[in-house]
Amino acid sequence: MSEHSIRLRPVVEEDLTMFRRFATEPGLVGLDWTGFKDPQEPARRYATDSYLGAESGRLMVEVGEQVAAGFVSWALRDFGGPTKHWEIGIVLLPEWRGHGIGWRAQAMLCDYLFTHTPLQRIQAGTHPENIAEQRSLVKAGFQLEGVVRACEFRDGRWCDGYLYSRLRSDPSPL
Ligand SMILES: CC(C)(COP(=O)(O)OP(=O)(O)OC[C@H]1O[C@@H](n2cnc3c(N)ncnc32)[C@H](O)[C@@H]1OP(=O)(O)O)[C@@H](O)C(=O)NCCC(=O)NCCS
Repeated sequence: MSEHSIRLRPVVEEDLTMFRRFATEPGLVGLDWTGFKDPQEPARRYATDSYLGAESGRLMVEVGEQVAAGFVSWALRDFGGPTKHWEIGIVLLPEWRGHGIGWRAQAMLCDYLFTHTPLQRIQAGTHPENIAEQRSLVKAGFQLEGVVRACEFRDGRWCDGYLYSRLRSDPSPL
């Protein structure tokens, strides 16, 4: 259990500095590093909808005395038909990892999405070597669905992914 109090809050302009760091500092984002990204993109997106769009968004993970530790994200996905589900993601700054924040932030995001949208399914993918995120997802109420073979090109090679889901009917661990 983390000793830190944790909140999710909307993105404010000062948070764009963190987003620019994740876009331009190799490896800061973790295994999801896939090369440099446009550092101006966060400002454009923030100017569009403050990262609270109907089909995707971000909330900051705030700990203790209003310190931004990272952010959670969500986006609408489908399997080809009209039915949609959410896919979520998370990244914490390195100094905030391993303190019990990641699983709780993802559980809070699921509760938020199930409360404010009618969708039935939330999914999350991670990497076979990302033990912290695998454990985090299970603690946040997710179940492993299986291995998605050769689903992403990363670090010079094709890699498998692990797919997890939490359904509206699954209990919240919070
Ligand atoms: C992945 C991430 C969100 C996990 O959040 P976290 O706050 O570090 O993890 P927590 O402290 O909530 O720990 C959750 C579980 O993972 C375990 N864990 C944490 N860090 C670990 C590590 N480095 N190795 C193995 N297990 C780890 C914890 O022990 C806990 O499991 P347990 O209670 O069964 O012991 C965070 O480490 C992070 O932001 N990493 C970089 C970005 C990333 O990988 N995002 C996900 C991309 S798919």
